[in-house]
Amino acid sequence: MMNWLIRILLVVIAIVVAVLTITALPTLDDKHMAGTRLMIHMMAGGSLVAAMPVFAILFLSRAISPQRSAILQRWGFWLMILAATLAIGSVLMCMLPLLSTEQMHRWMVIHGYAGFATGAALLVLGLGCLQWRRISATRSSTPG
Ligand code: HEM
Repeated sequence: MMNWLIRILLVVIAIVVAVLTITALPTLDDKHMAGTRLMIHMMAGGSLVAAMPVFAILFLSRAISPQRSAILQRWGFWLMILAATLAIGSVLMCMLPLLSTEQMHRWMVIHGYAGFATGAALLVLGLGCLQWRRISATRSSTPG
């Protein structure tokens, strides 16, 4: 049951991060986000804010146990949590009445890098899941 919940959450997170990345890609060409693209980005952002902590809590016991996860899974997980926290935290920072406009621009640049890093870490986690499948299959087919 828990396995399925983790798998479903991982698929949801992968879709959400793909949407966030696709909507953010034109900003690499100096085109700022606006209109429908910004709306979709912000809605997907909200979904990530909800899904990521639940996934982190459910996956945590595996992420700290070398007997229950592959090395790529552990690296991917911790890098993704770090990058996603920075991506979410930077938006939160800009919502607080603490920063000047220039500082907000700087935080949004950090947000962009952290966001793209979240996608890269998710890929590592995905590869780690494939690696873990292979390890588990080898273990269950080895007698003794
Ligand atoms: C994880 C993948 C993500 C990527 C790759 C990403 C990328 C970006 C980039 C490059 C920008 C800069 C846009 C610009 O300079 O005009 C941006 C803006 C923004 N992002 Fe994200 N982001 C991600 C996640 C999130 C999340 C989780 C949230 C919400 C918590 C969010 C909310 C926003 C908001 C509100 C803006 C400001 C748009 C503006 O005012 O121009 N993003 N994002």
